Amino acid sequence: MQYTAARVKEMYRQPESLVGKAVEVKGWIRGNRDQKEVAFLALNDGTFYSNIQVVAKDDLINYKDVTKLSLGSAITVRGIFQVSEGKGQAHDIVADEIVIESFSDLSNPIQNKRHTLEFLRTMPHMRVRTNTFMAVFRVRSLLAHAIHKFFQDRDFVYVHTPVITSADAEGAGEMFRITTLEPHESHRAKDGSYDWSDELLGTRAYLTVSGQLNVEPFCVPFRNVYTFGPTFRAENSQTNRHANEFWMIEPEIAFADLEADADLAEEMIKYIFRDVMEKAPEEMQFCNDWIDNGLIARLENVVNNEFARITYTEAISVLQKSGRDFEFKPDWGINLQTEHERFLAEEVFKKPVFVTDYPKDIKAFYMRLNDDGKTVRAMDLLVPGIGEIIGGSQREERMEMLLAGMASHGLNPADYEGYLDTRRFGSFPHAGFGLGFERALMYLTGMKNIRDVIPYPRTPKNVIF
Ligand code: 4AD
Ligand code: MG
Repeated sequence: MQYTAARVKEMYRQPESLVGKAVEVKGWIRGNRDQKEVAFLALNDGTFYSNIQVVAKDDLINYKDVTKLSLGSAITVRGIFQVSEGKGQAHDIVADEIVIESFSDLSNPIQNKRHTLEFLRTMPHMRVRTNTFMAVFRVRSLLAHAIHKFFQDRDFVYVHTPVITSADAEGAGEMFRITTLEPHESHRAKDGSYDWSDELLGTRAYLTVSGQLNVEPFCVPFRNVYTFGPTFRAENSQTNRHANEFWMIEPEIAFADLEADADLAEEMIKYIFRDVMEKAPEEMQFCNDWIDNGLIARLENVVNNEFARITYTEAISVLQKSGRDFEFKPDWGINLQTEHERFLAEEVFKKPVFVTDYPKDIKAFYMRLNDDGKTVRAMDLLVPGIGEIIGGSQREERMEMLLAGMASHGLNPADYEGYLDTRRFGSFPHAGFGLGFERALMYLTGMKNIRDVIPYPRTPKNVIF
């Protein structure tokens, strides 16, 4: 008989086209119920969230071995795809032949039972085989694609900004240094200062904290641009929403102010969430049922309603009048803490909210100074359950003001010559933002810990594999 290679995805999405056909599927065992004369195998081929049932009868020549197939074992099955005679599944495959590619060792740590997320974090290479992580990481992939689609459809040019850089984009000094020198050599000082010429790269080099300063110059030929890549922060934050390596999406738009920037951010969030909900209904339903009840209703709300907008000064006043006993007193000038951010998003607005126009001292040097001389055109998007998922601003396009911003942040203009060139040779109003990819993914899946939305999370004292 001629068996045609078939994908489990089609068996769920267009089963009519396959019923009665001789099919061949290759995949991995995710369940094996053996009832003496017949074994029911749950097979997953990686193309779809759900498994397909394989009915293996005891007339198979290797039936005894088939009954021993444990979780993770790999097989090729050839058989007839049919409307299932049993309950619990619409269709199944009655096997004519099962080729055993390999038996998985019985010590497989992933079994069909509930494992804690903490336990699973100790084996990032294995946890991806669980329902939870199969859902999260497919959603992660779809979310990345949706982001590219959103920007490409709008003629944004994708710029690959470097991972290795010599500039501290955020001016916050939370950078991992890159060196090829052995630790003892790197401490060597001449005249108390370090001789960077010994470095392979000939200079101080770091892992980037943001692609922003590298992407801004690309506005000139392309107008609207974005970068989407890994970023690194050497902060020792032991929270469930900080990682030392994470991905960021940073669009930069020319001839735009902060309002246009917020409009773009809002449109993007709605578009990418809608797109994933459409593409992965099974995964999203799983997240709703097993990770965060009410998730889908909440997301529907996000994509169908306007986000709130409030200035920092108004937000401080709301916090002060709330009567809440915050751990950090909400005085004007403070950096909003997570407790403040979550209060605003969860209790005051109950939806995503842009907070704009922060005090200049708590924001980065490149943000545009307002006429009050005290605040800058910054925006953070705060969402319920997480807090900040986007940070952005209108950029300071006026050279003297930019230099003043650097000075007040204690930065040396000599380190930012390339950036200053963008102001020297044709300056123009522009704005942009950074979306924390993992924070968006947490919001979309309902996962509570950033470690559980990154394939191989890197956090303080934690680098596995
Ligand atoms: O607010 P941030 O620091 O902004 C920038 O880096 C700007 N250069 C962006 C721009 O205007 N082009 O970071 C942006 C976002 C945050 O809102 C947050 O979602 C995420 O990046 N983020 C982190 N995500 C995970 N772990 C961390 N340690 C993060 N730090 C920031
Ligand atoms: Mg920020």
